[in-house]
Order: sequence, then structure tokens, then C-alpha cells
Amino acid sequence: VIDIRKLYAQTGMFTYDPGFTSTASCDSAITYIDGDEGVLLHRGYPIGQLAEQSSFMEVSYLLLNGELPNKAELDKFSYTISRHTMLHEQLATFYRGFRRDAHPMAIMCGVVGALSAFYHDSADITDPQQRMIASHRLIAKMPTIAAMAYKYSIGQPFLYPDNSLSYTGNFLRMTFGVPAEPYVVNPIVEKAMDRIFILHADHEQNASTSTVRLAGSSGANPFACIAAGIACLWGPAHGGANEAALNMLREIGTPDRIPEYIARAKDKNDPFRLMGFGHRVYKNYDPRATVMQQTVREVLGELGVTDPVFDVAIQLEEMALSDPYFIEKKLFPNVDFYSGVILSAIGFPTTMFTALFALARTVGWVAQWNEMIGDPEQKIGRPRQLYTGPTQRDYVGLDARS
Ligand code: ACO
Repeated sequence: VIDIRKLYAQTGMFTYDPGFTSTASCDSAITYIDGDEGVLLHRGYPIGQLAEQSSFMEVSYLLLNGELPNKAELDKFSYTISRHTMLHEQLATFYRGFRRDAHPMAIMCGVVGALSAFYHDSADITDPQQRMIASHRLIAKMPTIAAMAYKYSIGQPFLYPDNSLSYTGNFLRMTFGVPAEPYVVNPIVEKAMDRIFILHADHEQNASTSTVRLAGSSGANPFACIAAGIACLWGPAHGGANEAALNMLREIGTPDRIPEYIARAKDKNDPFRLMGFGHRVYKNYDPRATVMQQTVREVLGELGVTDPVFDVAIQLEEMALSDPYFIEKKLFPNVDFYSGVILSAIGFPTTMFTALFALARTVGWVAQWNEMIGDPEQKIGRPRQLYTGPTQRDYVGLDARS
């Protein structure tokens, strides 16, 4: 086995790999992806099995601790998370500093970063216990933060967490409940939402997770690191794709317009891409998209919702997958292609989609951050570059410049 660090120290050579298409930035025991085969495993367990048979709390425990919990461990973990769902009361004032029409992701970046100012004990990241408390706080508070961002945008009062509900049930209530009326959690929606959270929980060294690791590698406060991850996730090439995908499907509107959009996606003079299609790692069907497509069918059926956008999505997928351009480039639907349809059926506005992704991905981010900080070999992340600027030259005084 070649020790790259030693090799570099001896030769001064480094690799040039823009976009990290073939460079591993770390070793990790959390998530495995085989992009050619369309396989995704968390700690060895296939994503399909976890989505079908597990719960988001169980998967969170698994990602953080490495093993599935037994009943007592799961109960204790769920209880611990429920004890951390509240936000400091002063954070409600913080929300009021944002414009009402602020994007929820803008609010989330600010509020999560601001948690650093409330939990000074988490600054001691050398203490594994403190790291775990910070992780629990983040997992627990994200639903509250996301729901409050939504409530703020629609001018409704914030709802305090109800810890007698499940993690996901509590989130649905804080989002869709109103103080004057009792809120009954729909078990079908709760199950579907929980599954969506599982599907988004971790995805090895994607752009936002790598951002969290890079920010954390300097020893920064965990809340600030997760805020950095949220900022990265927001982009339309990453987490913002679910919002963009639904907007695209709505814009297409009817199946007869699909060929026009497929032609645009293939036209190299048109910057348009099929949103929710293609993936850096998957050169096969994204296994999360398979579960998501099935979940959309179930939820629309159970809720009695008919959304023409779903028909457009199904037909768009069929046409794209039989088109030589998409076949040759191995472009398949990714997790974002169908998630918007289901989130919209549940009642979320498109601007909340990426915030939901951030909520679920927080567990992956903190698991990866913990793994990195706990590694005795861990170093600050410091990529090199290929310099393409001018060679050395002498400064010229302002008067002498043409
Ligand atoms: N529609 C049309 N063409 C596409 C698409 C698409 N959605 N995705 C990739 N291509 C084409 C590119 O134009 C390129 O063609 P070329 O070889 O002729 O230049 C080729 O496929 C390879 O594309 P790259 O951008 O080089 O692939 P990369 O691995 O860098 O990008 C990405 C992956 C960003 C996801 C890309 O497929 C994309 O932009 N997809 C749409 C946005 C999206 O759905 N993002 C969500 C990703 S999943 C997630 O974050 C949860």
C-alpha cells in the first residue's frame, strides 16, 4: 500500500483533479457507494432495506455509532434527541431580523451558524462526549429551525416542539399545525416523510459533506461547520436540484412538451439541464430514486391526490432513458427527481425542499465530522493548485502605468 502522504513528502508531487472526480479526500467507514451498480450502503446496510424497514432515528443512531441500536439503545437515543429539540428563546428574535420573503435556506445558514454563539461548551471538540452532545443538539434542533423558517415566511406564530410525538411527527406538527387547533399527524405522511429523511441522511463525500469536513478540519465550531454545509447544499447542482426539478416539471406542464425539453437538455448551446437527472457517482439508477418513485405512488394513492406533474415525471424518465444521449452519458434520475412531487403533495412549498434535505443530511454531516475529528491522523484540509497567473514581475508606480 502506498502512503500518499509520505510519497508527497519525498517527491513534492501532487495530483491535479479539478472537481475531485477521482481523488479520495479521506477514509471513512460510514457510507459505501458503487455508482456503476447503483448500490448505496450505510454501515453495510442497503438503503432500500433501511428505507423500507427502519426509521430515521434508527438510521441516525446507525450513522453516528456504527451499529443498529437494540430497543433500549433506540429508546434512549430518541429520548436524548427529544430533550434537545427546543431553541434558545433569543433565537426567535434572530428570525425577526430576516425579511419575510427570505429563502428558508438563507435563514437556516444564519440560524445554525448562530447556534455557535449559544453553545460555548461545544467549542471543545477534543472531548468526544462534547462532540456527541453537539451532534445530538444539531439533529434535534434542525426540525425546529426548519419549521420556524417556514412559519416565519408565512407570517404564522412559531410552534414549540411537542416531544410526545415522533421526530418526524413533531416536525410535521411544527410546520403545519397552528396554535389554536389540535394537529393530528397523518401516519401515512409521517411514514413517507421519515423515509424521505432516511434517503437523504448521508451520501459519503458529496459537496456539502466535504465542505463540512473541510471547515471542521481547522477545528472550527461544529455549528459553524454545519452552516457551511447548508450553504453548499443550497446550490442547484446539489441540494437545490429538488426545488429546480419540480419547477422544471411544472414548467413542462404536459407530456406533449417533454420532447422539447429533452432536445434542450441535449443542445450544447443551451445551458439547460434536466434537473434531477445525472450524478457524479451513479452511472446507473440512483437506488434512492427507486424508493422515492415507489413512495410517490403510495402517498399520492393514499392521500387521493392526482398531480399531473407525476405523469410528466414518469413519461420524462421513460423518454430520457430510451434516448441515446442519456444512455451514452449514463444519465439516470437521481434522488431529487421524484422528491419534489411527494413534498408538494404533502403541502411543502418548493422553497422548503432544500431545507428538508438539510434537516435530514445533518445526521450525515455530524457523523462524518465526528469520524474526522476522532481520527488521530486528521490534518487540516489544504488542497493545492496549479498556478496559471503571471510569473514574478516588478511593481510599477501608479503614475508610470499606461
Ligand atoms: N441534463 C443534460 N445533460 C447532462 C445532465 C443533465 N441533467 N447532467 C449531465 N449532463 C451531461 C453534461 O452536459 C456532460 O456532457 P458532455 O460530456 O457532452 O460535456 C456530461 O453529461 C457529464 O456531465 P458533468 O456535468 O461533467 O457531470 P458531473 O459529474 O460533473 O455532474 C451533476 C453531475 C452536477 C449532478 C449533473 O449531472 C447535473 O448538473 N445534473 C442536474 C442537477 C441535479 O440533478 N443535481 C442533483 C445531484 S444529486 C444530489 O445532489 C442529491
